[in-house]
Amino acid sequence: MTDLVRLERDGDVAVITIDNPPVNALKAEVRAGLLAAIAAVQDDSRIGAVVIRCAGRTFVAGADISELGKPAMQPYLPDVIEAIETCPKPVVAALHGTALGGGLEIALGCHYRVALAATRLGLPEIKLGLIPGAGGTQRLPRLVGPETAFAMVLSGEPIGAEEAQTRGLVDAIVPDLDAAAVAFARKAAARGQPPRTRDRSEAIAPYGADPAGLDALAAKHAGRPDGRAAPPAAVEALKAAVTLPFEEGIARERALFVALRDGPQSAAYRHLFAAERAAMRLDLPAGVAARRIGRAAVIGAGTMGAGIAACFANAGLPVVMVDVSAESLARGRDTIEKTWAAAVQRGKLTAAEMERRRALLTTATDLAAVAGAELVVEAAVEDMAVKRDVFAALDTIAPDAILATNTSYLDIDAIAAATRRPGRVLGLHFFSPATVMRLVEVVRAAETDPEVLATGVAIARTLGKVPVVVGVCHGFVGNRMLRVRTTETERLLLAGALPYEIDAALTEFGFPMGPCAVGDLAGLDIAWRMRKAQGARAEIADRLCEAGRFGQKTGRGYFRYEPGSRTPIRDPEVEALIVATSATLGITRRPFTADEIVERLLFPMVNEGARILAEGIARRAGDIDVIWVNGYGFPAYRGGPMHWADAIGLPRVRDRLTAIAAETGEASHAPAPLVVELAAAGRGFASVAS
Ligand code: COA
Repeated sequence: MTDLVRLERDGDVAVITIDNPPVNALKAEVRAGLLAAIAAVQDDSRIGAVVIRCAGRTFVAGADISELGKPAMQPYLPDVIEAIETCPKPVVAALHGTALGGGLEIALGCHYRVALAATRLGLPEIKLGLIPGAGGTQRLPRLVGPETAFAMVLSGEPIGAEEAQTRGLVDAIVPDLDAAAVAFARKAAARGQPPRTRDRSEAIAPYGADPAGLDALAAKHAGRPDGRAAPPAAVEALKAAVTLPFEEGIARERALFVALRDGPQSAAYRHLFAAERAAMRLDLPAGVAARRIGRAAVIGAGTMGAGIAACFANAGLPVVMVDVSAESLARGRDTIEKTWAAAVQRGKLTAAEMERRRALLTTATDLAAVAGAELVVEAAVEDMAVKRDVFAALDTIAPDAILATNTSYLDIDAIAAATRRPGRVLGLHFFSPATVMRLVEVVRAAETDPEVLATGVAIARTLGKVPVVVGVCHGFVGNRMLRVRTTETERLLLAGALPYEIDAALTEFGFPMGPCAVGDLAGLDIAWRMRKAQGARAEIADRLCEAGRFGQKTGRGYFRYEPGSRTPIRDPEVEALIVATSATLGITRRPFTADEIVERLLFPMVNEGARILAEGIARRAGDIDVIWVNGYGFPAYRGGPMHWADAIGLPRVRDRLTAIAAETGEASHAPAPLVVELAAAGRGFASVAS
């Protein structure tokens, strides 16, 4: 045994306790301790039954993610679980917190499972680019049937104890876990031979006779191929549970698991798991802590303002939404209430919870209503003069509150300077739709106090968001890099690619939509107006707007759209316009392969990321990755732009950028000094820490 696993006796019941804070992850010492404990109880004639429980806040939450990238160490989890399952004495898992991944697989190896009512059980491996690798795909269908097993393994979503009991995954829900588990074990011992999950065939039998049923389950839960390697592997393993004997199914599962574990996608997901958590950590001076926010205010009832206000109410915080226009307020409130009502209809929200949220959200036309809020989020129009006026007024009305702006581009230092307490001003940049998008850029202005920054991060977490701290620059991290991609899209269109080719290359790469379709969805006229105000031009985009092609809202943009449809259709008129524009500008068009399109759009973006990193606007490359995956649809299985570039190797990125710069004559395409430096040193972006 080790310090991490204790073995105690409660009369004739052995109680094995795993104690590896914070989440009892199954690192090698834990696996070894568990194996030793099982071996010890097996030979102890005083012991009639066994309970496996965990200390701390949760039952085992899975394999130790930090171990997955390293050489595998014995004992392997499948062997530990095999020892548990073949133990001749009944073994009872006592579940609390989150029994996830390898934790649930241990519980499946046990002969019985008892749980506290608040326990959540799941196999989240798919979210890490993996499949369960210690029998989960073989034992779960045998216990609960393929329908539930496909749903749980392919979604990665946990289920509650009550549902788990209904489905046969949990034998009893108990109020007092430890005592009840011991009592349960004692009774089981009296009953004799324990039932082993692997021997159960009744749950899978119907599908054995009807393999087509498995294909239907696969189609329902795995969806269409989207570049991820784990879902097809999960389907293959789950099918093996029905079509192969247990030992062969286990071997198939393990082989599929190992291939995924050692492949690039799982490494990308592990990187993001660590990066998301690192992004939330602040190295704060001693004694500095986040302020408690008990009441919030949002200025502006437009799309963003209403969305942000809804986030507060959804998280159970009272919020007042303020707008000078009573009409906008009514419209904003109506939009929010409609989403709640729709959630109630879909069974995602109870009517009582909807009422609670409605009561938390108040509205006002008078700015004075923000008095009493500890945090004010301004989401008024994107206009510096308006924002400075609002902040100057807030400075007086809410003298103690933290003031946040949701600006996407504007200089927050200049906004803060309109107040007498710039230390209590920061940016909280939400993404649209605010209730859905997980990303929040927490913008640290020059004078933002550490305590205020910590509060920004903490409140974003309270709202269920992924906060990333960034510095002030035009567009911060996400939009600054997006702007590069937009510019490169225009350049590629002029150089020879067509909208459908560009979009196909990026959707094949893994983005949910291509940049031209995104432009059509957002509306091309907004950027057009901004360019006109700045005296700038984007030849293709401008000509489309001049022809009244604003995107989906006019049924025509880079693509055309049938009435009521959002499906982009190639439009010969646009393609002729693009070819003619190239000719007018004296550009000789050439064809581009999909790989070239990806490089031409994304390498300049990575180059900008390198500049952002060198300037300290982002603290780590992983922060940029978290932003692009959670805010801009960069495929998670590629780990974000900077991880992707590291995986390709920076010498190649440098060389391609040099070649692109030579072809385009564009100075910004030359590799950034950080790219050159890291490539020469054989290092990657991941090695850069601020
Ligand atoms: N292996 C290693 N470390 C883990 C871990 C795991 N499986 N799960 C969580 N941790 C660590 C986190 O990195 C974090 O460390 P930090 O405090 O140094 O940043 C700490 O445990 C707490 O995790 P966090 O996610 O911040 O806590 P939470 O209470 O919000 O969520 C869980 C807890 C268990 C629900 C969540 O961490 C989770 O989903 N973990 C992954 C589970 C999983 O995928 N298991 C299958 C692995 S194959």
